[in-house]
Amino acid sequence: MTHIYNKRFFYLSIPIFIYYILHVLYDTWLPTNYIFDPVVLNRLSNEVLDQHPEGNITLIFEDLAVRLKEEYGDFINPYTTDNDDWVFNNAGGAMGTMFILHASISEYVIFFGSAVGNEGHSGVHFADDYFTILKGQEWAALEGAFEPEIYRPGETHLLKRGQVKQYSMRPSSFALEYARGWIPAMLPFGFLDTASSTLDFYTFFKTTYLTGLDMGKNLLRGKF
Ligand SMILES: *[C@@H]1O[C@H](CO)[C@@H](O)[C@H](O)[C@H]1NC(C)=O
Repeated sequence: MTHIYNKRFFYLSIPIFIYYILHVLYDTWLPTNYIFDPVVLNRLSNEVLDQHPEGNITLIFEDLAVRLKEEYGDFINPYTTDNDDWVFNNAGGAMGTMFILHASISEYVIFFGSAVGNEGHSGVHFADDYFTILKGQEWAALEGAFEPEIYRPGETHLLKRGQVKQYSMRPSSFALEYARGWIPAMLPFGFLDTASSTLDFYTFFKTTYLTGLDMGKNLLRGKF
């Protein structure tokens, strides 16, 4: 009997051990791979917003993509204005659409938002998430809150690793989202709504393709 229990303990200890390693690396080695700076991303967003007091999101996206490319070069994908590279995202019961500007193992930068608006669960992430509003509003609340936190254009909402909030993008709201941490650990959150509910495999494969391609591309040039 004893050897069976030992075996079970051994298999149980594997995920705990992996979690422990990822946890230690999170504060030590992982940050050495970060190339984006949330303060810079907020500043660039505000500079572009200042140039567009009319709030035209089409022009804000175009100009911000140019500014990001000036700052981060090839680490930022070219922004296409024909809208072909936008892809729906269903996660935590909330639906939105995104454009992937950068995806690697330790970071991603995307445009995210919704013309219709949404509401759902933030997810529990092994990453810090900086969400800078470009148009509209994001509402968010911790479980004990009776009033929403409200984020407006130019403001950055930081959802810290492990934090859980209910959030909502108000109708016609868009943001620049930057996440840093163990990005692959965030991906199941972005996929399980497809597998268990929407069955929208076109979106699933498009997301996998665009994310995988960019992660692979960055990995090949040594950007973890
Ligand atoms: C935003 O700017 C684009 C490009 O100049 C224009 O086609 C579009 O109509 C504008 N949108 C709004 C809501 O003004």
